[in-house]
Amino acid sequence: MAATPDQYAVIGNPVAHSRSPWVHAAFATQTGQALEYGCIAAPLDGFAAAVAAFAARGGRGLNVTVPFKLEAHALAAGLSERARAAGAVNTMSLREGRIEGDNTDGVGLVRDIERNLGFAFEGRRVLLLGAGGAARGVILPILEKRPASLVIANRTAEKARALADAFSAQACSAALAGCSLDGLRGGYDLIVNATAGSLQGESLPLPASANAGCALAYDMMYGAQPSAWMRAALAQGAARAADGLGMLVEQAAESFFVWRGVAPDTAPVLAALRTQLAGEGK
Ligand code: ATR
Repeated sequence: MAATPDQYAVIGNPVAHSRSPWVHAAFATQTGQALEYGCIAAPLDGFAAAVAAFAARGGRGLNVTVPFKLEAHALAAGLSERARAAGAVNTMSLREGRIEGDNTDGVGLVRDIERNLGFAFEGRRVLLLGAGGAARGVILPILEKRPASLVIANRTAEKARALADAFSAQACSAALAGCSLDGLRGGYDLIVNATAGSLQGESLPLPASANAGCALAYDMMYGAQPSAWMRAALAQGAARAADGLGMLVEQAAESFFVWRGVAPDTAPVLAALRTQLAGEGK
């Protein structure tokens, strides 16, 4: 009798829309890894129980999505350095009753921007919009790429300043600062939108001048159509805009590597997912 393939899943609420099962199935086929990857909708008050039940069934790993990344961080017995810095966990490895927490979101963003979009961070001026969990998760991986500066701007300026303070020791040579959205002027090479604004289909209360001279405006959200924020950035002077579909595929690839020790080729998977998404938007 053939052995049961190793079991993985994405856990969240809601989670039915998640692309992760498709992406991981594509990685498994490409790399010849014997695994199955499902989808778990956990009750809002039942995350820990759902993780325990999955582990009891022999589950090997979980991707964690909204709204459980902070709970996953609290539940993990061990944390990688990047999960500790992010204050959140999106990748759990389950081994002999022990949960190891990792976070691949930040490396996913940086790889998409560097490798897929061809933008080099070193010496560049970076603006990060937002100061919630999504923003926090990408600060350390961006700083590790040695930009000249990283400005964190948020509707609630105090939260942006607090984040800048929290990462001051890791800033190396980069000038790191927090500020409000409305005071922004241009001069950024890269602008990353990590606010929840695009989710609600909104643009952000940003001065138009913030986009002047911007080489790449990157929205961490993705959809069949460019977001309102991407469209506004292009109209206001950004040379190029990209959504976060590549980040989704790259963070998945890093989780796959954490679990299986094999790095999938992300390019064909990203291209196929883009085609799929475009078809759904018609
Ligand atoms: P996530 O985990 O997705 O980052 P979060 O921790 O709730 O979610 O953070 C949401 C971020 O989006 C915050 O930076 C929030 O700004 P505030 O700190 O001022 O609340 C930002 N945000 C959400 N909706 C926004 C909007 N319409 N305009 C500007 N910023 C918005």
